[in-house]
Amino acid sequence: MPRFSLRNHPSIFSMEGKHRLRLWVLGRVGSSRFGRWLLTKCYSYEDSLLEREIFGVSFPNPVGIAAGFDVDGRYYRQLRSLGWGFVEIGTLTPKPQTGNARPRFFRLKADRALLNRVGFENGGLDNALYNLRRRGEQSSERVGANIAKNTLTDLDSAVRDYLKMFRNLYQYVNYFTLNIEPLIDQLTMEGADKKQMLLAIMEALVDFRRGQTDYCPILMKVSPDWDKELVDSVIEVLIETQLDGLVVGAPTYNHEGLKSSPRRLHKVGEGGVSGEPLFPHTLELLKYVKSRLPGHYPLIASGGVMRPEDVQTLLDAGADLVQIYTGLIYNGAGFAKRICQHLAMIAHHRKGSISPLT
Ligand SMILES: Cc1cc2nc3c(=O)[nH]c(=O)nc-3n(C[C@H](O)[C@H](O)[C@H](O)COP(=O)(O)O)c2cc1C
Repeated sequence: MPRFSLRNHPSIFSMEGKHRLRLWVLGRVGSSRFGRWLLTKCYSYEDSLLEREIFGVSFPNPVGIAAGFDVDGRYYRQLRSLGWGFVEIGTLTPKPQTGNARPRFFRLKADRALLNRVGFENGGLDNALYNLRRRGEQSSERVGANIAKNTLTDLDSAVRDYLKMFRNLYQYVNYFTLNIEPLIDQLTMEGADKKQMLLAIMEALVDFRRGQTDYCPILMKVSPDWDKELVDSVIEVLIETQLDGLVVGAPTYNHEGLKSSPRRLHKVGEGGVSGEPLFPHTLELLKYVKSRLPGHYPLIASGGVMRPEDVQTLLDAGADLVQIYTGLIYNGAGFAKRICQHLAMIAHHRKGSISPLT
């Protein structure tokens, strides 16, 4: 199977180019067992107090890499060696996608944020399978797959796209996240019933899962930009179907209150903002979702974690796991270790638990 390659590489001086170069270096350094051992020695922090079992999957610690970072599943082993408890690969679609025109990924330094309009570029299902097949049955890395339909797939074929991704990746990942953002945009434009579509997707996936010997959890990702009605519909789907939990948070298109100069914001243009300004939105959404749920459902918080203390705040607000993207870009390779040390310290204070004392 040929590996996915981009014909038009981003400029090495662009934010995206530098990000890719860093990933390439990480990939090279961690391509051998010795390299990964060295990375683990330098960057990893293990403590049994940080281990968690969520939706039937055991995690070495509750902090993972958010979708969009290791899109095609090429670096999950190296990211584990850097101390991350899990990696959500994707968003992956059945056919490869090239995403939006470059440049489309920027740093907003004054805000400790990133702005992106990448548009779900990925190498497609076959390329992800090629990368994931290297993963042994007993592999210690925890990998989730964030899946979606292709942007150009029409609504009538949307269920087919999700099911194709689910069936083919089922045996290679520990959980799935359904990215319904491209679907929601299209459903809104066509005035179609969103909940009915989500139920139809879930029915197809659950039907397939029923025939499998292993159970693979399914989550759905919700955005802080959605109106309450839409978030409530997803919560209803969670309660009514066998959806296992939610990923709470995504970049926001609300640029109010950003500290970057109007000139800078005008220059970079439209896009989703992640990082520090996103944190209050994530926390608010997490608390809202938590207040609407009749009992415990697994929640992964994703958005705005820039300091180890932010992770503890999200865990205390009801998250079971936390994902990070922008915080890693700003804090560098030692960020997972700093977070885990901080969480372990709190856990020792709380007599052995990273969850709040009740
Ligand atoms: C460059 C970039 C690409 C992203 N691509 C995806 C994606 O393909 N699918 C997805 O569900 N989220 C994607 N995200 C959103 C992240 O998964 C995460 O929810 C968001 O960045 C908030 O977390 P953070 O503040 O820690 O970065 C992307 C974020 C960035 C910055």
